[in-house]
Amino acid sequence: MASDAKKVVEARGVVKNYGDFEAVRGIDFDIRAGECFGLLGPNGAGKTTTVKMLCCVLPLTGGEISVFGMSAGAHPREIKARVGVCPQENNLDPDFGARQNLLVFSRYYDLPKAEAARRADELIKRFRLEDKAGVCVEDLSGGLKRRLMVARALINDPDLVVLDEPTAGLDPQSKHQIWDEVKALKGAGKTVLLTTHNMEEAQLLCDRLIIVDLGAIIESGPPGEIVARHAADSTRPTLEDVFLKLTGKQLRE
Ligand SMILES: Nc1ncnc2c1ncn2[C@@H]1O[C@H](COP(=O)(O)OP(=O)(O)OP(=O)(O)O)[C@@H](O)[C@H]1O
Ligand SMILES: [Mg+2]
Repeated sequence: MASDAKKVVEARGVVKNYGDFEAVRGIDFDIRAGECFGLLGPNGAGKTTTVKMLCCVLPLTGGEISVFGMSAGAHPREIKARVGVCPQENNLDPDFGARQNLLVFSRYYDLPKAEAARRADELIKRFRLEDKAGVCVEDLSGGLKRRLMVARALINDPDLVVLDEPTAGLDPQSKHQIWDEVKALKGAGKTVLLTTHNMEEAQLLCDRLIIVDLGAIIESGPPGEIVARHAADSTRPTLEDVFLKLTGKQLRE
């Protein structure tokens, strides 16, 4: 991808404090149009905090994030209209079925009823949830719930799709289904921000990534380049080896 590609996200000197605790300590990164950008790091690195600031649900303590050229602080409504988010924690409505969850969520976007219904049906089909369209979310497996959450993130046909650990804890089949969906999103020209602990996932899907630990960026670049930079340390280094070397920590998966 050309380095002068249009920037969808620009983060400059981003800081987030929770009380006295510095969760994000001045990070800078850009996300280019059409790429899958990875945010990789161990538990507590500050990934979800960063995602929440970018999605305008958490104010920054310092620095600046612009999304589609608009400041996250000044234009949350306009940004939210063009971003789709699959949060780390399940926040589906447990009392509703899959289709109803999509319809209820569509109300945030002022979609005409008929258009919302059309999109919900399309997503139910695309994510192979037809058999479960009317089943209470409470009764769905973890993999199906996650698939529904990714589907829900697309109800507004977003230009930027943010997936916070979309495959954590999933079986290999469910994981592959979500990987295929991320590839399809990229194929459709969408920009994707993916947070993950999964090295295989990062290497497979991400065009570029940052490795974050304790709220700071410790490595960045295309996965292949990051591995190559550390190639002298091992005969067959992987992103996982690099991560261990840099952080002294093993990733969760
Ligand atoms: N609301 C909050 N109040 C206080 N501290 C918080 C809050 N939210 C997160 N933190 C702390 O900020 C740090 C970063 O948390 P964050 O959830 O962003 O990490 P993460 O990289 O997403 O981790 P994980 O891989 O476990 O999801 C952690 O130490 C966490 O305990
Ligand atoms: Mg998190």
